[in-house]
Amino acid sequence: MQALVYNGPGIKNVEDRAKPVVRMPGDAIVRITKTTICGTDLHILKGDVPTCLPGTVLGHEGVGIVDAVGAGVTTFKVGDPVLISCITACGRCDFCRRGMYSHCTTGGWILGNQIDGTQAEYVRVPYADTSLYPIPAGSDEEALVMLSDILPTGLECGVLNGKVQPGSTVAIVGSGPIGLAALLTAQFYAPSVMIMIDLDDNRLDVGRRFGATATVNSAAGDAAQQVMKLTDGRGVDTAIEAVGIPATFELCQAIVAAGGVIANVGVHGVKADLHLERLWSHNVTITTRLVDTTSIPMLLKTVQSRRIDAKQLITHRFKLGQILQAYETFGKASDTKALKVIIEA
Ligand SMILES: NC(=O)c1ccc[n+]([C@@H]2O[C@H](COP(=O)([O-])OP(=O)(O)OC[C@H]3O[C@@H](n4cnc5c(N)ncnc54)[C@H](O)[C@@H]3O)[C@@H](O)[C@H]2O)c1
Ligand SMILES: [Zn+2]
Ligand SMILES: [Zn+2]
Repeated sequence: MQALVYNGPGIKNVEDRAKPVVRMPGDAIVRITKTTICGTDLHILKGDVPTCLPGTVLGHEGVGIVDAVGAGVTTFKVGDPVLISCITACGRCDFCRRGMYSHCTTGGWILGNQIDGTQAEYVRVPYADTSLYPIPAGSDEEALVMLSDILPTGLECGVLNGKVQPGSTVAIVGSGPIGLAALLTAQFYAPSVMIMIDLDDNRLDVGRRFGATATVNSAAGDAAQQVMKLTDGRGVDTAIEAVGIPATFELCQAIVAAGGVIANVGVHGVKADLHLERLWSHNVTITTRLVDTTSIPMLLKTVQSRRIDAKQLITHRFKLGQILQAYETFGKASDTKALKVIIEA
């Protein structure tokens, strides 16, 4: 089968690989129909993710058809259409029993990281009963690819951790796929102000189309002042960090209102300053989270009932044979205006 393989920092190749087989009773083999590329795959290619060893098939998102199941799989059978969670959950360990699938002691984020992932014709999914989700008949498969990772991430790490409430004020720093996913899912809770902040005017335009009430281009360095102006000098109740660099985490500290929450989503590679000398008296909460994908069943219903249009996040489509071109397009988002690219296997 064809697969996109990480072969060390800066090196990726399309290779001919053996089709995966069931190794454990809980495994399912899924024939991938649609997958995508995540910003995190680009982090791996930069060499930022040491757990991902050269030789690993990348990808942790996708939908497909069950091709084989181990003897222990009871929820799925061959031929079932399934959504693959980016997080593998045993369902039994202490963390899984608390709904913290991301910290599953024998799972977590392993697909396309510690084991071969979804950017291939087939993938082996361990603990299939608790890591796959049935796709309801009549669903738009492309839209559901957005539920493997980015919509749960925006919702769980950004909106839920950030305690977005009816009438509350929200700023999202970073208008990439994750920030936009937070913007879409924040609207379940009807905040009164939703400010998108980015350096890229195209992505801010998308933010406005997706429901932002205001946008701020932070290139000029006065983003904090602009947010203060938009919130009567108070700042926002929820500041969502969806970039992953010190400057944006510090911006969140400058714009959070007293009593507010800074919900960090971004993956940080270097240390960032915490301004306790100012924030100690402001009753703020800072949260961090690796997505658990516990919200997938809820999000499936909201996509089915058209409460949310997940497909809006898709800008480009490729065949698996063109995956290098898909990476090129996704990696140059500021030129290509790419958000999510669909890869059809
Ligand atoms: N916590 C989790 O479980 C989890 C899951 C998935 C992704 N992530 C992380 O979320 C972050 C966002 O993901 P993405 O796919 O949307 O990334 P992305 O790179 O596509 O988007 C980031 C956006 O931030 C903007 N940006 C960069 N520097 C900026 C600055 N100084 N000020 C304002 N905006 C700036 C960019 O223009 C871009 O639009 C990444 O760090 C990713 O690794 C975290
Ligand atoms: Zn991802
Ligand atoms: Zn577990």
